[in-house]
Amino acid sequence: MLRGKNIIIGICGGIAAYKTPQLVRLLKKEGANVKVVLTEGGARFVSELALATVSQEPVYRAIFPSSGTTDFTHHISLGEWADALLIAPATANSLGRLAAGLCDDMLAACFLTLRPGKPVLIFPAMDGQMYLSASVQRNIATLAGQGCTIIPPESGELASGQCGLGRMPEPEAILSHLQQSLRSEERHSPLHGRSVLVTAGPTREKIDGVRFISNYSSGKMGFAIARAAAKRGALVTLITGPVHLETPPGVTRIDVESAADMHAAAEEVFSSCNVFIAAAAVADYRPRAPYEGKIKKEDAEMQLALVRNPDILAEFSKQRSPKQLAVGFALETREGVECARQKLEAKQLDLIAFNYFDGKNSGFEVDTNILTLIDRHGETLELPKLTKDEAAEQLLDAIERLTPVNAGNA
Ligand SMILES: Cc1cc2nc3c(=O)[nH]c(=O)nc-3n(C[C@H](O)[C@H](O)[C@H](O)COP(=O)(O)O)c2cc1C
Repeated sequence: MLRGKNIIIGICGGIAAYKTPQLVRLLKKEGANVKVVLTEGGARFVSELALATVSQEPVYRAIFPSSGTTDFTHHISLGEWADALLIAPATANSLGRLAAGLCDDMLAACFLTLRPGKPVLIFPAMDGQMYLSASVQRNIATLAGQGCTIIPPESGELASGQCGLGRMPEPEAILSHLQQSLRSEERHSPLHGRSVLVTAGPTREKIDGVRFISNYSSGKMGFAIARAAAKRGALVTLITGPVHLETPPGVTRIDVESAADMHAAAEEVFSSCNVFIAAAAVADYRPRAPYEGKIKKEDAEMQLALVRNPDILAEFSKQRSPKQLAVGFALETREGVECARQKLEAKQLDLIAFNYFDGKNSGFEVDTNILTLIDRHGETLELPKLTKDEAAEQLLDAIERLTPVNAGNA
């Protein structure tokens, strides 16, 4: 798996850096070409000479070349060379620098110049309080949103002598994370090169100039699907209602507000997409006649007349060619699987994800989800509680199982 692969190991200034010569040795034994990038902090914890010896390569540190060097552009060529970037240990400081998009050392430059789609595995290791701090968590979320794989630290004995969260996994475990990541990258996906349209987030239906009807959808599930599909090489268009999420790398994003806007934007893409995944929580109804200004508080009661919004997925399903796949979500609280099955049949979908809503582990806003996937042949796959990224991978696996039959242009 690793034979001939070009791997950069970025080492930051944490105590766990002492384990990295062993990690380099393991990768070399697997046949990888390894180059080490050491931060200034990292060099305080592990010897450059030891790393150069085990990697059989010079260790890269400063962006500015030392006198006598003839290659002045290592800050670009290293990132281009790499098949994967592994950052272990990643310090709080470097997580902040990378999340902010700085380019003040060789590690940051490699991170910015890595080719799109190449895996970045980040192993944060630090004091538990530091790891759980709002700033570090925000930076981790930013990097994960950009497609990096973050492997959380383990709990146990720390090099500081304390016990708790913050330990970097052992080199053998890091190696197996890397192998797993490269394996899924190499697997040729039937979605590669195909156009995938994903809708995400809530819609806002205007009551008047300052008020609207909406729901609690955060868009996280749809964004996770878009991210996972782009990673598989699909050409992804993401139509999203108002959310606070970063656009996944390589995804074309269209921002909309109301169900009518989403409908109009989706219609533009319908005919050219191979797969339509409707993960948005589109409002079923909208106020019949939104008021231009602000409605005054005058009467003790008020009536709001609502009209039905178009069903975007049902419409797509009705007009699609046999080569296009239609995938929906059904968020239900009770008797869910049966309702989801009925929806699959009524809308003639290829696949439906029944999304059990319990308000804690699945559904809106949270980072995890519990899905049951039902396909057009009646195959049912009950998934356990997963992160939304993991659930997205499972959903795409299920779509891929249906895709070969539908191969060809839309
Ligand atoms: C003894 C010692 C141990 C440290 N261990 C860690 C650590 O495990 N994780 C971390 O994020 N920072 C740790 N730090 C702080 C970093 O070394 C410091 O933030 C440094 O600026 C990181 O630089 P870098 O991110 O460029 O490598 C430690 C500092 C000291 C003095």
